[in-house]
Amino acid sequence: MQARPKLACGTAPGKVILLGEHAVVYGRTALAASIDRHVEVAVAPAGGPARLAALACSADGTHWPVPVEALERATALTGVNIADIETVASANLPFSVGLGSSAALSVALIRALALFSGQSPTDTEVCAHAFEIEKLFHGFPSGIDNTVVTYGGLLAFRHGATPRPVALRKPVPLVVAIGQTARETQKTVRGLRQRWEADPGQYEPMFDEIDGLAGAAESALSTGDFARLGKLMDANHELLRRMKISTEELDQMVSLARRSGACGAKLTGGGGGGAIICLCDGDRQGLVDAFTRSGWQAFSTDISKAEETIESGDDGERFEQRHSARA
Ligand code: PMV
Repeated sequence: MQARPKLACGTAPGKVILLGEHAVVYGRTALAASIDRHVEVAVAPAGGPARLAALACSADGTHWPVPVEALERATALTGVNIADIETVASANLPFSVGLGSSAALSVALIRALALFSGQSPTDTEVCAHAFEIEKLFHGFPSGIDNTVVTYGGLLAFRHGATPRPVALRKPVPLVVAIGQTARETQKTVRGLRQRWEADPGQYEPMFDEIDGLAGAAESALSTGDFARLGKLMDANHELLRRMKISTEELDQMVSLARRSGACGAKLTGGGGGGAIICLCDGDRQGLVDAFTRSGWQAFSTDISKAEETIESGDDGERFEQRHSARA
């Protein structure tokens, strides 16, 4: 029998939605990409010598216990006895701002539990398990967050279809800025659902328009046409605003980005507060500073292409190469 590691760590990145949030819930295509901010979960035997807080794999970021409901569901899915383990999560990814923190937590947790119990799940299995945990956080998620967070890179996602890695001419330079308004994706998704049910004729054409923007953005990304991509992001933000997903604060942040030289900007994720993304081909530090001066946190990140194709048979060996278990 394989010896259990004393400490198993699973990691997963955060994400941004480049175009198509909310419309993706209604079967349209969205483009989403992983970012270089992460959530990490460490699992160790309960009461064992490993003090998890000290051993947690990332030194930076905050540490907190994994939410009980998520842990219960994840242990049930992986067949680990919850009484046998201690867990801790750490992150350098801001939480609850539309950057995929709950999906990253779900994926990292599944990966850590799988390693701890000697399993080598495929990415497809990790993604499916993470989707089940995501339902606790989001009610009826489209699946975009757990998918991009599992596979990484830039993906075109449409519910029910195999996610497709998107061709990129060059890395996409972004600034992410974070608003101060508290928010919950579940609320904005539910609110839009009620408005759509009351008047589908108003919303369906907007979803179609967003779908068209996502398609056009794929071409712009393949040729590296950032001027065009920025305009498409602006148009997407305007549609989200008309759908009442944006807020005054998010609109102010988007305006600041455009005034400060961004090619385009839009809210990202669930909206109702949270984060925006700015496409910035020029002085990114200048833009970060402009946000900071106005009281908003901001950071730079690049979107790169998927490291591997999803169809390429993700086997257990690769899983173990990418995630660590220590005896
Ligand atoms: O969970 P967030 O805020 O990163 O956004 C998820 C994207 C939505 O389209 C709003 C919801 C979904 O499940 O697709």
